[in-house]
Amino acid sequence: MRKYTLLLALLVGGCAEWTELEDVSCPPEGTDLTWENFARGFMIAHCNSCHSVDTPDRQGAPRAYVFDTYEQAHALRERIFIRSAADNVTMPPGPDDPPLEERDMLAEWIACGAPAD
Ligand code: HEC
Repeated sequence: MRKYTLLLALLVGGCAEWTELEDVSCPPEGTDLTWENFARGFMIAHCNSCHSVDTPDRQGAPRAYVFDTYEQAHALRERIFIRSAADNVTMPPGPDDPPLEERDMLAEWIACGAPAD
């Protein structure tokens, strides 16, 4: 299994309430994670039941926050990071959280520039 060497430089100053994008580094060897092989599926599995433009029930998810396409997710990557990547767990709001390993993968994907493929 691949090792995800996430460098969580957990702040010199201590207890931030959330991990920010600049607190996480892309591994020196880069990432194999892409929209095509990872992030699209992550969004479908964990986000799009509320955030897709096509969903029958947004459950209050803002219309401006749609993650169906690479362009949409890439444009919103900093907000996606703050809500769902690494130890940020405020999205999804329900009980069906993604595994922490997938949150770390999401952090790595975004920290490495959120590559498409
Ligand atoms: C059960 C429905 C639901 C699911 C699933 C869900 N969201 Fe949300 N999302 C919401 C609601 C409701 C709001 C508006 C309230 C809020 O911001 O907390 C929201 C708001 C947001 C926002 C906009 C606010 C901001 O902080 O910029 C982002 C970004 C977001 N969600 C990301 C995600 C991501 C990424 C996932 C998947 C990991 C996800 N959401 C899964 C319901 C959902």
